[in-house]
Amino acid sequence: MSQNKSFFPKESEIPKEMLLAQPIEQKEYLVNGGLKIWEGAVQEVFSPVYINTDSEIKRKRLGSIPILGEKESFEALDAAKQAYDLGRGIWPTMPVKKRIEHMLKFTKMMKEQKSIVVKLLMWEIGKTYKDSEKEFDRTVEYIFDTIEALKNLDRDNSRIEKKNEIYAQIRRGPLGITVCMGPYNYPLNETFALLIPALIMGNVVIFKPAKHGVLLINPLLNAFKESFPKGVINIIYGPGKDTIAKLMESGKIDVFSFIGSSKIANVLKKAHPKPNRLRAVLGLEAKNPAIVLQDADLELSVNECILGSLSFNGQRCTALKIIFVHEKIVDAFNALYLEKLAKLKMGMPWEDGVMITPLPEPDKPAYLKELIDDAVNKGAKVINKNGGEINESFVHPAVLYPVSSEMRIYHEEQFGPVIPILSFKNISEPIQYMVDSNYGQQVSIFGTNSQQLAELIDPLVNQVCRVNINCQCQRGPDMFPFNGRKDSAEGTLSVFDALRVFSIRTMVAGKEIDVNKKILTEIIEGRKSNFLSTDYIL
Ligand code: G3H
Repeated sequence: MSQNKSFFPKESEIPKEMLLAQPIEQKEYLVNGGLKIWEGAVQEVFSPVYINTDSEIKRKRLGSIPILGEKESFEALDAAKQAYDLGRGIWPTMPVKKRIEHMLKFTKMMKEQKSIVVKLLMWEIGKTYKDSEKEFDRTVEYIFDTIEALKNLDRDNSRIEKKNEIYAQIRRGPLGITVCMGPYNYPLNETFALLIPALIMGNVVIFKPAKHGVLLINPLLNAFKESFPKGVINIIYGPGKDTIAKLMESGKIDVFSFIGSSKIANVLKKAHPKPNRLRAVLGLEAKNPAIVLQDADLELSVNECILGSLSFNGQRCTALKIIFVHEKIVDAFNALYLEKLAKLKMGMPWEDGVMITPLPEPDKPAYLKELIDDAVNKGAKVINKNGGEINESFVHPAVLYPVSSEMRIYHEEQFGPVIPILSFKNISEPIQYMVDSNYGQQVSIFGTNSQQLAELIDPLVNQVCRVNINCQCQRGPDMFPFNGRKDSAEGTLSVFDALRVFSIRTMVAGKEIDVNKKILTEIIEGRKSNFLSTDYIL
């Protein structure tokens, strides 16, 4: 590991508006509608950005968070149980219109915290300031879109149906006590893509933030506390094995929603003693390939592959994590990729136009080095200048070529700035790669011949869940389904689908007999039930 101290800034060189006023020493956690003060051990939080003092460089300290354990997790569970009250609680039985009002109040208060949340996002995970802002705005938009989708759903369900002399009203009801855990690369957006639909459908939630990107939830604690009835949202901190694992073992969790690695998801899911009670909503890892065909537009393909493999340093589940290029154009592709890579700005996340920034996981540089060394030992070369050079938390992107199936990088999800490229002669080679892979999220194909693309689309849509033509893989727009096959996901997320995965169709039905007609009419006209109701929201 080389150490180039001058790569990292002196405190005085950081723009004032990007600095945090002071470290956040968080003691609070949210349980049963109150912010409880934790007096026990805390975990210090450091940025991936180092600060260059005259004598040394060290990670910028951002503050500290509570290390809660089993006792506090069960406090949260008890609060959630009371709030849900076997489905009879205020929140699960509340009319949709009222739940939306609570959500709007939360969103208003959340927006007031934008500036500090965005800065914390940037400092905690090294995401560029611009992308941190985008993540915040996208999340707010996601909430508004969710509200609109729910209104539509509610309107569709606000009627009595009749079939074979049976009257029925069918709605979507909550599932119960829901655990939400998001990933560190989108600690706000992806976490909220679980949390918001879970809440708005009437579930009660225990939320544990990701391993990095934890402090950014702190400015939102009050908004959660003020906006929802007590016990509906509980926020806890601490190691998974002492918190969420214990809750799962209790068998009292109804929904496990998690975005992260399949390894952790499997451990937590298996800890639950009642597998049929538990619903799982999972977004897991992926190894999305790019396939660049012989007739591909080189300029466009390289631009998209750069974005796909290196946006947020390759730390996206949707990132392009292996690139197959037709042997006839691989030299030209590599040359152009390296030319464009050399122009990418590397530096601190607040700098204008910066693309490659320090990595938040302390052990990631060493892991990436292992992958690079393994590939080089087995015949690949690092083909770009300075590729793989490590400067503390910063890893200079490494382009590996030619990669082969004996190498770890061919199989493992690097989740970082290492770009494996290999050439193919026959299209069956990348297809076989996808068939053999444990993952099945997306693929990007680059080419111009519609016949050839059509022949590829048909087999590929049954290997993955999104075939991207002449563009990188991505989750958005959030209205589109986001899911995966095999070890990549369970359940489908999108604004629309998330409302479904966090709820279940449930109905009230009765035979068409006079006494039932009278009862239904009295309940509906007298507005005696929130469920059995033809009121609709405009
Ligand atoms: O980490 C995986 C994210 O869902 C990717 O989302 O494609 O919008 O960056 P994105």
